[in-house]
Order: sequence, then structure tokens, then C-alpha cells
Amino acid sequence: MSQKRTTNLSDNPSMPSSNTPKTKQLRVWDILVRVTHWTVATGIIANLLFTEDGGELHEYVGYTVVGLVVIRLLWGLVGSRYARFSDFFPTLARIKHHLSDLSARRTDEQHLGHNPLAAIMVLSLWAVIIGLGTTGYLMESGILGNKDLLEEVHELLANSLYLLVPLHIIAAIVMSYWERENLIKSMITGNKTVTDKPSTMK
Ligand code: HEM
Ligand code: HEM
Repeated sequence: MSQKRTTNLSDNPSMPSSNTPKTKQLRVWDILVRVTHWTVATGIIANLLFTEDGGELHEYVGYTVVGLVVIRLLWGLVGSRYARFSDFFPTLARIKHHLSDLSARRTDEQHLGHNPLAAIMVLSLWAVIIGLGTTGYLMESGILGNKDLLEEVHELLANSLYLLVPLHIIAAIVMSYWERENLIKSMITGNKTVTDKPSTMK
């Protein structure tokens, strides 16, 4: 579940220098995770801020984003280690463990993939995006009679993104300081820094 990162050992002045662990880069986010993240983020921001509400481009971008999220969700079943739901699904035990790490200001035992709170956020973002695609489709197809209600729900979901997305970005910045790891850069390069201690690596 979690991976021990012992990077803080190097901050301990009592550690003999010969024991100071070396760091190395580990590939955490594979190419599919990174490409879907940045394309989905671009599409969502475009639909929230730039495309004409309900216009052709809006629908096209919306369906593309939903398609990318569906691919990413399937990748959660069969993809690389840290992309899988099994690695980051926020179970109660994982949440408790993470909260106790946070309250004790422990940074030695970290999730290399999404921590459980980040996982709640990303699952929420995916759910809202799927909801937007579904209500958008239902509004346009006319399968369901109550277009007004669908519009209301679509608007509500879109408005929730105005809250969730900034929160998500602030959390990424705060956790980057907390973990002394640039998480945004990791989402671009795919790599995170780990201590080169094979005995603690899974
Ligand atoms: C998945 C990403 C999407 C986002 C972020 C998004 C966002 C939005 C936003 C912010 C509005 C304006 C709501 C308001 O204040 O009235 C809107 C309206 C609308 N969207 Fe989307 N949308 C998405 C997907 C879709 C899709 C896939 C469709 C249709 C196929 C669609 C169809 C519409 C329509 C028809 C409206 C106008 C509704 C009205 O007249 O009030 N949207 N959308
Ligand atoms: C509309 C915009 C955005 C949406 C919908 C979004 C959504 C997501 C999702 C779904 C994930 C999980 C990725 C995966 O496992 O495949 C994620 C992760 C991440 N996102 Fe975003 N994102 C957005 C914008 C941004 C921006 C602008 C930044 C940076 C400034 C950012 C930084 C990150 C980081 C650092 C992670 C990894 C979090 C971790 O280490 O657990 N995101 N985002």
C-alpha cells in the first residue's frame, strides 16, 4: 500500500554521513496517467471558462474528456502499479494511517502514488466529469423529458468543479512543500525521488 520513503533521514544531523542514503528517481506516473491528466485538465478548463455553453465545441471537448477519463478508469484496473485503484483506493485503514502520519508531521512513510486524501479528490473529480458527460448527453439526446432538471444538475456539477479544481491545485502545492517533492513536476516527468535503500523498497 504505502512505500517507505526515508528521505528525511538525511536531515538528521546525528546520522553518520556514510549512512546517509542516496536518492534516486523512481517512475511513478506512467505515460497514460500523465497524458490523460493534462489533456483532461485542459479540456475541463476549456469547457468551464472558454467554450460557448452547450455549443458544438463544448460538446466535442466534453465527450473527449469523458472518453479520456473512461480510458484512465480502465487503466486503473490493468495499468502500472501506481495507476491502479488497488494502490490508492481510500480504504478507512489507509485514511486513518495517513491522518495519523499527517498529525504527527511524519514524512518518512509516504504514499508514492496518490495518498488517500488525494485519492478521494481524484475519485470525486472523475465522478463529476462522468456526471457532466452523462447529463450533457441526456440533455442533448432528449431521451429523458426533464431537460430543465438535467440543465440544473449539469450546472451544479460544473459549479462543483469551480470548488474542487482550485482545492485540488492548492492541495498539490501544499503537499509538495510538506513532502519536499514537487508533485506537479512529478505529474509532468512521471518521476519521484526515493531513498536508495533496497531493503525498504517493495
Ligand atoms: C465534461 C465536461 C463538461 C464541462 C466542464 C461542462 C461545463 C458546462 C458549464 C460550466 C455550463 C454552463 C452552465 C450554466 O451556468 O448554465 C455548461 C452548459 C451546457 N453544457 Fe456542458 N460541460 C461539459 C460537458 C458537456 C457535454 C458532454 C455536453 C453535451 C453533449 C454538454 C452540454 C451542455 C449544454 C447543452 C449546456 C447549456 C445548458 C443550458 O442551456 O443551461 N456539456 N456546461
Ligand atoms: C481541471 C483541471 C484538473 C483536473 C480535472 C485534474 C484532475 C486530476 C486527476 C483525476 C488526477 C489523478 C490522476 C491519475 O491518477 O490519473 C490528478 C492528479 C494530480 N493533479 Fe490534477 N487536475 C487538474 C488540474 C491540475 C493542475 C492545474 C495541476 C497543477 C498545478 C494539477 C496537479 C496534479 C497533481 C500534482 C496530481 C498528482 C496528485 C498526487 O500526487 O496524488 N492538476 N488531477
